[in-house]
Amino acid sequence: MDAQTDPRTEYDRLLHAGCPVQRQADGSWLVSGHAEVVAAATDPQTFSSAVSRFLQVPNGLDGDEHARYRRVVDSFMTSQQVDALQEGCQRIADQVVEDLPRGQRLDVVSDLGAPFAVKAQCHWLGWPARIEPVLVDWMADNQRATAARDDAALAEVAERFDAIVGEQVAARRRGESPDDVTGQLARATVETADGGQQPLNDAEVVSILRNWTAGDLGSLAVCLGVLVYSVAVAPELQQELREIAADLPGRRDDFDRAIDELLRIDDPFLSNRRVTTREVELGGQQLPAGERVVLAWTGANRDRRVFPDPDHHDPQGHAAQNLVYGIGPHVCPGRELATMELRVVLTALLRGTTNITPDGTGDRNDAPLGGWAEVPVVLD
Ligand code: HEM
Repeated sequence: MDAQTDPRTEYDRLLHAGCPVQRQADGSWLVSGHAEVVAAATDPQTFSSAVSRFLQVPNGLDGDEHARYRRVVDSFMTSQQVDALQEGCQRIADQVVEDLPRGQRLDVVSDLGAPFAVKAQCHWLGWPARIEPVLVDWMADNQRATAARDDAALAEVAERFDAIVGEQVAARRRGESPDDVTGQLARATVETADGGQQPLNDAEVVSILRNWTAGDLGSLAVCLGVLVYSVAVAPELQQELREIAADLPGRRDDFDRAIDELLRIDDPFLSNRRVTTREVELGGQQLPAGERVVLAWTGANRDRRVFPDPDHHDPQGHAAQNLVYGIGPHVCPGRELATMELRVVLTALLRGTTNITPDGTGDRNDAPLGGWAEVPVVLD
C-alpha cells in the first residue's frame, strides 16, 4: 500500500513534533490537534464557515441563518426516516453484493461502494434508475477533478451536477413525480429572520441536494473502501465483525461503534474549512482575522494526547472522542443515515462471503481526498 500518499503520515508527524496548529505553504493554518479542532469547530463566531463564494446550504452559513436552514435539513434525517429507509437499502446492498464475482479480483470502491451509494441515494431521494449511470460517471469525474485540483474541471462537474439535480427539482415543481423526498424538499419552507416562513428557492434546494450528494455518494464510497480494507487485512477483526453481524439487530450498537472506530483510525473525510473573524490564539499560535483555517478531522482523530495508540481498535473506549462526523453546530446531520448505509452494505458483504482477502496493493486517494481510490480484494 502506498504510504507516501497516506495523509496520516504527515498528520502523525506534525502532532509528534508538537505542532497541533501549523502554517502551511499556501498561507492557510492546518489545525490537526484534537483539542484545537474541537475548540475551533465549537466556536463558530470566531471560526466562520463562510469560506466559499458559492451558495452552500447549510454548510457555508453561520449563526442564526445556519440554524434556520439546518432545521430544514435535520427534518429530512430523523431516526424514523432513517429506519424507514433501512429495508430498501438492505435489499440494494444484498443485490449489489450478490452480483459481485467470487474467487477473482475486484475493486471495493468502484465495484461495490460506487454502485451501492448511487442506488441507495436514488432510492432515498426518489430519483429514477435511468440517472444511476449518469451519477456513477459524475462521481468518477468529480473525484478526478478534486484530486487534480483542476478549477476548470471542477466548475464543469459542478455545472453538470446542478443540471442533473435541477432537472429532478423542475420535474417536482411541475408536479410530475410522486411525493418523494426531492418533492418534499422542493416544497419545504424555511423560517425567516423575523419568525415567518418562506419557500426554499431553486438555488437553495439544489445547494442542499448537492451537499447531501457529496455526503452520500462521495463519502460513503470512500468510507466503505476504508472499512473493507481494514477487515481484509485483519482476519481476526473480520471474524469478530462476522460474529456481530450474525447477531443483528441485537448487537447493532456494537457493529456501529466498530465501524465508527475503523473510520477514526483511518478517517477518509480529511478536513473542512473555516475563516477567522477576529484575531485568536489557537494551539500556541496567534491567528490574525481573515485567515484561512483547515480543520483536519483525520489528524485530530489520531492525536496521541487523546488516543495514546491511535491504531489501537477500541470502539467503546474511543467513542466519546471520535470526530469522524465532526462536532459543533455543523456536526454531520447525515450521521445516522451514513451509519445505516455502511452497516447494511458491510453486513451484506460479511454474510454473503466466508472470506475477504486483499489482492495486491491498493491505491490511496491524493489529498484533498482521503481514504482509498482502489481497494483490490478477492471474495470467497
Ligand atoms: C459517509 C460518511 C460521512 C462522513 C464521514 C461525514 C462527515 C461530516 C463532517 C465531518 C461534517 C462537518 C463539517 C464541518 O464542520 O464543516 C459533515 C457535515 C455535513 N454532512 Fe456529513 N458525513 C458523512 C455522510 C453524510 C451524509 C450521508 C449526508 C447526507 C445525506 C451528509 C450531509 C452533511 C451535511 C449537509 C453537512 C453540513 C452540516 C452543516 O453545515 O450544518 N453527510 N459531515
